[in-house]
Amino acid sequence: MKRILVIGIGPGNPEQVTVEAITALNQTDVFFVVDKGQNAEELAGLRRQICERYVRGSSYRFVTIPDPPRDRAPDSYVDAVADWHVRRAEVYDHAIAKELRDGETGAFLVWGDPSLYDSTIRILDDIRGTGTTRFDYEVIPGITSVQALAARHRISLNRVGGAVHVTTGRNLALGWPAAADSVVVMLDGPGAFLAVEPDDVEIYWGAYVGTDDEVLVAGPLHEVASDIATARAASRARKGWIMDTCLLRRAPDSPPDASPAS
Ligand SMILES: C[S@@+](CC[C@H](N)C(=O)[O-])C[C@H]1O[C@@H](n2cnc3c(N)ncnc32)[C@H](O)[C@@H]1O
Repeated sequence: MKRILVIGIGPGNPEQVTVEAITALNQTDVFFVVDKGQNAEELAGLRRQICERYVRGSSYRFVTIPDPPRDRAPDSYVDAVADWHVRRAEVYDHAIAKELRDGETGAFLVWGDPSLYDSTIRILDDIRGTGTTRFDYEVIPGITSVQALAARHRISLNRVGGAVHVTTGRNLALGWPAAADSVVVMLDGPGAFLAVEPDDVEIYWGAYVGTDDEVLVAGPLHEVASDIATARAASRARKGWIMDTCLLRRAPDSPPDASPAS
């Protein structure tokens, strides 16, 4: 039987790779690297650095899996993602069948934690359901970018006894989540969080958190929004891509139906 490990490697700081992840890295024969996005080369480089730093010996090998192209302006976002997952499952299935021998262990090194806005687990489940390759798999948790952001700003995500709503920029653009006061926003390339009605909203924002390029800004949204917009534009111009996350927190007495995004 083939064995696959889905290993969370944290959001960019090699010091945030857990002991359990290091043990798993040392059991791996084949690291599957998915070649995706503008930042693919830099993130693949970081995965290699993590292996060089933590794996004893060098008997492992890397296999790059090409990421199928994805429709970025579809009529239906959900259908487009579902279609993309099917095509991804096919290439993952093919790579596991071809590159991993029976009795060997393969690993996917997942940015942050595999449970948060990552499709690796769903795709492996699909392959086990419909694909041709037989394997078992385990998940090793990692530190999420949300935890790293909270630590760098020295904040708790929730108010006392309160809830935390984690969402995407795409969802936030449709309006402030009902009944939420603490909202974490991820995957927000266009910056929907900057279009939120700023009255009574505090923001804790971070880009490339935990890496040498880290930028942090916090304060009342109406005061710091333009600083964040400037920092985002400068980072994009310098690196060609941005990876940022924020916590938006509304004053506890804000009316529940206030402040939809414009
Ligand atoms: C595809 S999701 C992956 C999330 C990841 N699984 C996690 O646990 O953090 C990518 C999003 O995570 C956030 N992100 C990941 N790494 C980050 C970092 N180092 N600094 C800030 N945000 C980060 C950004 O919102 C980015 O758009």
